[in-house]
Amino acid sequence: MKLDSMIQEKDYPGYKRYFRSAFEAQQHHIFRWWSELNAEEKKHLLGQISTIDFQFIQKLFHENTQQVAAPIQGKISPPQIINVPHSSFEKKLAHEARIRGEDSLRKGEIAVLTVAGGQGTRLGSNRPKGTLPITPITHKSLFRLHAEKIHATQQKYHTCIPWFIMTSESNDFISQTFFQSHQFFGLDPKQICFFTQKMLPVVDLNGKLLMDSPSNIVMSPNGHGGVIVALREKGILNDMKRRGVKNIFYHQVDNVLIKIADPVFTGYHLKDNAEMSLKIVKKGRPEEKVGIVVSLNGHLHMIEYSELSREDMYARNENGALKYNAGSIAVHMINIDFLERLYQKNNPLPYHAAFKKVSYIDEHGNAVKPHNNNAIKFESFIFDILKYVDRGVIMEVLRDEEFSPVKNTDGADSPVTAKRDMTNLFGRWLRKAGISIPTDTHGNVIGCIEISPLFALDEEEVCLKVDKHMQYTGFLNLHVNPS
Ligand code: UTP
Repeated sequence: MKLDSMIQEKDYPGYKRYFRSAFEAQQHHIFRWWSELNAEEKKHLLGQISTIDFQFIQKLFHENTQQVAAPIQGKISPPQIINVPHSSFEKKLAHEARIRGEDSLRKGEIAVLTVAGGQGTRLGSNRPKGTLPITPITHKSLFRLHAEKIHATQQKYHTCIPWFIMTSESNDFISQTFFQSHQFFGLDPKQICFFTQKMLPVVDLNGKLLMDSPSNIVMSPNGHGGVIVALREKGILNDMKRRGVKNIFYHQVDNVLIKIADPVFTGYHLKDNAEMSLKIVKKGRPEEKVGIVVSLNGHLHMIEYSELSREDMYARNENGALKYNAGSIAVHMINIDFLERLYQKNNPLPYHAAFKKVSYIDEHGNAVKPHNNNAIKFESFIFDILKYVDRGVIMEVLRDEEFSPVKNTDGADSPVTAKRDMTNLFGRWLRKAGISIPTDTHGNVIGCIEISPLFALDEEEVCLKVDKHMQYTGFLNLHVNPS
């Protein structure tokens, strides 16, 4: 297909500039099957190309593949961290933080923001990750689990917590339908707001847009950092302000142990008048492949595992602990005014190239399922805004209490480990309440336990509510009967 003949397309006069820019960016192969498409298919393809900035994609490809990544400029040092409280003084500080956070929750100043726009490719399911059945006994979905935590927190503090959920074009409809068909899990539909992030085309290793049918360009969501732009462009930030929200509790949809709107974390964030705060877990071993939070030129910075020098990776403090061990678990508090200031900056978030295996059709129209990485997705990361943060709190939490993400079909970070981690956490809560819960040689609870967030949100509530004479027989489901 030639540019001249595309421009002659009488039925699509408004699209001339898109045809032109696709040709100028050497992406005209996307019109290879144009003459064979029916009107509906042409409309679909044109709809896609009208959202694509071809020159921008060319620039991203060039920047991410042809230029050598600039090494980190400046000297890194370990950041200040609020450790898990042990001493009575630390416990007193945590208690004070909690009171402060609870007060803000009661006033309705905290919104929950769940990013759920990812494609969950490692999990290998076409359905949105949030719909995945995950609890050990009743198989509640991730969405229901989070909804019940929000519900229980609202009841506890006699408040309403607005819930904002970012999806993407590829999973928005199913996610929203899922909420509707489950009556919003008992929450008020007006407190829940869905919005979508931007999609970008996926390119091959030569920078050419991939297609998976003659009329469809492969598109992919622009990373969890896409939430920053989407909050403004979709009017969400204004909506939050109208509702009286001052700070956002950000989390990812796939962490089953998430402590939603944790009042202690909120309180520390408020006390320091922080712009953005992070929860971290201590890295288990030097080689663990997690992003590490460091201080760089006076600002917080997330450093990739691969960017850490060997010397820094193995460096230890006098007490023998790893010097750089603050592993981010992607749980943040973000101040709304800080976001407003961030929008004054041009393009605050860079795009990174993620090399993936993506199915496509070749020039003959044959479907290809690659065995090696053949494609590049462009994604921005939420933590890249750290460089604009002047005041940020870093709070350490225990991995087995707060972090168990579902990423893979099996093995580490899979549904199996998520269920195990939930059962183990519930087992520890019950033991605190005086109930005997046996474990195997690996320290895992024998049997299966589920505690609904509506029964108890934490150890303290379990201790108050549970029957201390209860005998655990290897299967326990603590829930609240619907009234
Ligand atoms: P991951 O980076 O783990 O991606 O996202 P994923 O989509 O869940 O899984 P893979 O990599 O395709 O296997 C971490 C969190 O960020 C969200 C995800 O939904 C998840 O909650 N996310 C990721 C978005 O909201 N948008 C994106 O573009 C990417």
